[in-house]
Amino acid sequence: MNKHTFLITILIVCLLISINSYAQSDIPSVDISNYPIEAKEGYKIFSQKCVKCHSAAKPLNAPYSGDAWKTSVYRMMRKEGSFITQKEADKIYAFLVQYSSNRKIVQAVETKGLSPIEAGKKVYQQRGCAACHVISGVGGKVGTDLTTIGKTRDREFLYKWLKNPQAVKPASIMPNLNLPDKELKPLVEYLVSLR
Ligand code: HEC
Ligand code: HEC
Repeated sequence: MNKHTFLITILIVCLLISINSYAQSDIPSVDISNYPIEAKEGYKIFSQKCVKCHSAAKPLNAPYSGDAWKTSVYRMMRKEGSFITQKEADKIYAFLVQYSSNRKIVQAVETKGLSPIEAGKKVYQQRGCAACHVISGVGGKVGTDLTTIGKTRDREFLYKWLKNPQAVKPASIMPNLNLPDKELKPLVEYLVSLR
């Protein structure tokens, strides 16, 4: 190997390393040291297979906890080109349940320059409320239809509910999303405007 080929080889290796770390940079480092073994393995598979079509932030910020993850993970498993086996899906599920049990919001919703109602609408969309709720015919049917929620519920109820659904209705299956006030308040304004 002459000097030139050697230098070029070094260059290519550096390039490959930097591309590789760039591709991984989206994956937040999660402290999995206390996770059960299945969740640990799930984290590895998640980092490889759940970031192929969208960023890791999409699932990591999704408003699911506990069993609600199963539907989401299985739906992704069935997407064409996911190459996720049933066994892998179950491990990813174990990781996400563990992760979401004590997570922090990874990314705040950007609402600069928006009116409170517009900001609230964006929070609604980005926090995945539509996975369970219908507004004007669009969304999932697990939760209450919110098309005219502003007629039946006032700000005080909505704020209290969204802050902690289980404090209002202990058996509620709506996840507590731990949203900061910065997102909760515009969200309430948006919901109150739905009449
Ligand atoms: C083959 C491509 C592909 C792979 C692999 C994939 N996703 Fe997705 N995912 C999508 C697409 C496309 C959407 C947006 C459309 C939709 O929701 O169906 C999406 C949306 C989502 C959403 C938001 C919608 C919802 O259900 O709340 C979550 C959460 C999610 N993915 C999680 C995951 C997880 C977890 C994995 C790994 C198990 C994964 N994805 C792997 C394509 C993929
Ligand atoms: C995993 C499903 C799920 C998600 C995600 C979810 N909810 Fe809910 N929500 C429910 C269910 C189910 C109820 C009905 C109460 C119950 O029995 O748990 C409910 C109740 C509500 C209510 C009270 C309705 C009433 O009049 O009593 C409001 C308001 C609401 N959700 C808003 C939201 C908003 C806003 C978001 C997003 C930040 C959201 N929900 C995310 C499932 C969900």
